[in-house]
Amino acid sequence: MDKKENYIVEMLFPERQIQKKIFEIASKISMDYKDKDLVIIAVLNGSFIFCADLVRNLDVRCAIDFIRVSSYIGIESLGSVKIISDFKEELAGKDVLIVEDIVDTGITLDFLINEISLKRPKSIKTCVFLDKKCAHKNEVQVDYSCFEMGDDFVVGYGLDCNGFFRQLPYVGRIKGFHK
Ligand code: IMP
Repeated sequence: MDKKENYIVEMLFPERQIQKKIFEIASKISMDYKDKDLVIIAVLNGSFIFCADLVRNLDVRCAIDFIRVSSYIGIESLGSVKIISDFKEELAGKDVLIVEDIVDTGITLDFLINEISLKRPKSIKTCVFLDKKCAHKNEVQVDYSCFEMGDDFVVGYGLDCNGFFRQLPYVGRIKGFHK
């Protein structure tokens, strides 16, 4: 993709709809984690905006840490996941919630669940902003999701294409750009 060109992004999920949904999901998480020892592990880079909005709507005590992984170049999944920077939080005996931007094949989320379970947490659940259910390669554990969508490549609200478009307050499809 040439960053010098101007691309038209077609709106898929507008800002208002996103904020309403996040409030609903956060309320559910707050109820489910009442009196638990919640540690949120947000997956960078894509989930930085989603996680920031989600945690500000939570009404429970939680620790927040980050893991940075890479599995995509442009719009292509590499099919394998690399940890670029790991979390520091002690997870043994804690209730871990993995916060991810989008589940496509499910390879990344599956990898993270396996990695985190090695730290012997009390429980592991996942919260994803977008779920491309039809693109999952294997069964993948999604406990909370804001929106289900088709197999389109989307940008905005933290999601990028080669590092661009993350700052859009809504989610959209790049016009004329197909997988
Ligand atoms: P998976 O391992 O195939 O499920 O891919 C997960 C990761 O791929 C996400 O965390 C994103 O970084 C990236 N990804 C997958 N689909 C999209 C998309 O439509 N737009 C932007 N990034 C995507």
